[in-house]
Amino acid sequence: MDFTIRAATLEDCKDVARMITELAEYEKAADHVEITQKDLEQDGFSKNPFFHGIIAEVPEQHKSKDGHSKVGYSLYFYSYSSFKGRAVYMEDLYVMPEFRGKGIGKALMRKVAQLGLAAGCTQLNFSVLDWNKPSLDFYFSQGCQDVTSDLGYHYLRCEGDALEYLAQGDP
Ligand SMILES: CC(C)(COP(=O)(O)OP(=O)(O)OC[C@H]1O[C@@H](n2cnc3c(N)ncnc32)[C@H](O)[C@@H]1OP(=O)(O)O)[C@@H](O)C(=O)NCCC(=O)NCCS
Repeated sequence: MDFTIRAATLEDCKDVARMITELAEYEKAADHVEITQKDLEQDGFSKNPFFHGIIAEVPEQHKSKDGHSKVGYSLYFYSYSSFKGRAVYMEDLYVMPEFRGKGIGKALMRKVAQLGLAAGCTQLNFSVLDWNKPSLDFYFSQGCQDVTSDLGYHYLRCEGDALEYLAQGDP
């Protein structure tokens, strides 16, 4: 099946918001989604964007049963490793169920890898839920390693009241 991979634009935010909800449902975390189309428009397409996006699109004749031609996406941003230097973090990778197994996920991830390398990054980092075996297998098939089990890293977070409390007082 023909598909195109291209940089996301402001006009894609409605579909990205829809697919974020679909990904969250797949990850059994739909209740956790607070982001809106407007947030994506502001945070991804203002002067200093917090993220970048890639869209997978199919021709009109191949659109989904629900009439969508934007059928996959990836969100990524640049980060920094004090050990290794420039890095790219892939926040999301998603392909709608009826379009999986056709090379679209690989093409999206390849584009993030190409952009990361072009920007001088030496690492592509991301996290995967431990029960998401099909996606773990997909990533392993692309040469990725599980550094949680290999190096013993834990993914930590401070948010809500704890974050407010942490930020109180003078430095
Ligand atoms: C993971 C996901 C993005 C993969 O996208 P996809 O379009 O189905 O995958 P592709 O068709 O591009 O697969 C490309 C390659 O991966 C391999 N692959 C895909 N799924 C695989 C699996 N479950 N096990 C082993 N290999 C797999 C394919 O055989 C293919 O191999 P190749 O390198 O020889 O061509 C997609 O399945 C998805 O959106 N899953 C649900 C959401 C999700 O879990 N996202 C990741 C969150 S971290």
